[in-house]
Amino acid sequence: MKGIILAGGSGTRLYPITEGISKQLMPIYDKPMIFYPLSVLMLADIRDILIITTPGDQVSFQHLLGDGSKFGINLSYAIQPEPRGLADAFIVGEEFIGNEACAMVLGDNVFYGNGLTKLLMNARDNAESGFATNFGFRVHDPERFGIMEVDDSGNILSIEEKPSNPKSDFAVTGLYFYPAGVSKLAKQVQPSERGEIEISTLNNMYLQSNKLKGELLGGGFCWFDTGTFDSQMDAAVMIRALETNQSRIIACLDQIAFDRGWISREQLAERANLCKKNKYGQFLIKVLEDVR
Ligand code: DAU
Repeated sequence: MKGIILAGGSGTRLYPITEGISKQLMPIYDKPMIFYPLSVLMLADIRDILIITTPGDQVSFQHLLGDGSKFGINLSYAIQPEPRGLADAFIVGEEFIGNEACAMVLGDNVFYGNGLTKLLMNARDNAESGFATNFGFRVHDPERFGIMEVDDSGNILSIEEKPSNPKSDFAVTGLYFYPAGVSKLAKQVQPSERGEIEISTLNNMYLQSNKLKGELLGGGFCWFDTGTFDSQMDAAVMIRALETNQSRIIACLDQIAFDRGWISREQLAERANLCKKNKYGQFLIKVLEDVR
């Protein structure tokens, strides 16, 4: 199973901040934004991951994450020259995906909730047995998102991109699992009126062939599309409150890698030492002490 993080885009909604830095490298409280979506893929036990960026920003992502070995994963990088749409990720990533199933998460999406790992593993199993999965989350401004209409049993009835008359208030979040063959389908997606290769069109293709499953993230979950000043601040405030309350670090790539046996004690100790002046590093030291 492969994973993609789509971390390109023009970032104009966050100007002037993103005139000088990629949005997905900005902090959400105590870590770079991209740590959050990367943690989701790692929790789904996905270790071969492609990071898609703009041409100018690639080097900064490489500087931050390297080849992934510090987190026990294999990172590759690809460039999307223009923001041609979310489904374009599977065309850019065609060679990387090969004949495998693939998950994609948007580089500005933050997920948090008890039981997330189990939902991710279910979606992974579905993808490996031929089914795509979309995750729904109830929002107050459905016109801003892809929207899924669901029946009482949670089956998806329709998917519409930013509808003016939404059929439900369940947004399709920026996390998608697809079976092998997604690149071939993505190439068949015709650009929309706004000129993008829409992920909603791709999802509709799976829906039409009864190959799309829906998973609703209920009240115990939080989801943020951190593409605006306010949503970024809201996510940061929530992460800070949870981390303080629970005395832990959320989306801690180092801990996830260590818990899964992907990095050694020595590697974790090195990382802890690097960040020892702050809570992040002190948390890693505690992780090391707890398993002594
Ligand atoms: O966040 C969930 C929503 O994401 C879904 O509900 C929608 O169905 C989906 O279309 C998308 O809507 P957005 O309006 O949030 O998409 P946006 O154009 O903002 O792109 C999302 C992220 O992907 C953003 O961080 C920039 C990046 N991106 C976007 C495009 C179009 C790329 O890297 N390349 C692209 O070509």
